[in-house]
Amino acid sequence: MYSEKVMDHFQNPRNVGEIKNADGIGEVGNPRCGDIMKMYLKIENETIVDVKFKTFGCGSAIASSSMATEMIKGKTIEEAMNITNKSVAGALDGLPPIKMHCSVLAEQAIKSALLDYSKKNNVPIEGLEDFDPTEDPHDHH
Ligand code: FES
Repeated sequence: MYSEKVMDHFQNPRNVGEIKNADGIGEVGNPRCGDIMKMYLKIENETIVDVKFKTFGCGSAIASSSMATEMIKGKTIEEAMNITNKSVAGALDGLPPIKMHCSVLAEQAIKSALLDYSKKNNVPIEGLEDFDPTEDPHDHH
């Protein structure tokens, strides 16, 4: 049912923890399953120099957040904005259809941390104008 990559990132999640004095913090939750994901970003010169996460949730959510942090580390804000739940799931060699919403949490956590950064530093980020972190992830399939 689960790919080797999902199992690997679930059992050995990368970048777990939190960043003190993070430049952007995002917290998102899925109201239906109750899972919560928190993402911390350290940003210098428009580049994500460090990222950590904490996920209280299912294995797919943990694997998705782990993979998502690996995908945005060292990347520019613009590149991180291009990460979608589908690209995260793809990088994990797929998720079962009923678990796709777990990867949506990862996309939302990144965007919500970037939104926090954008607000705190008064830098507009293209694509975040309409972002609503409270939107129900199940509607994104
Ligand atoms: Fe809730 Fe996976 S079941 S995020």
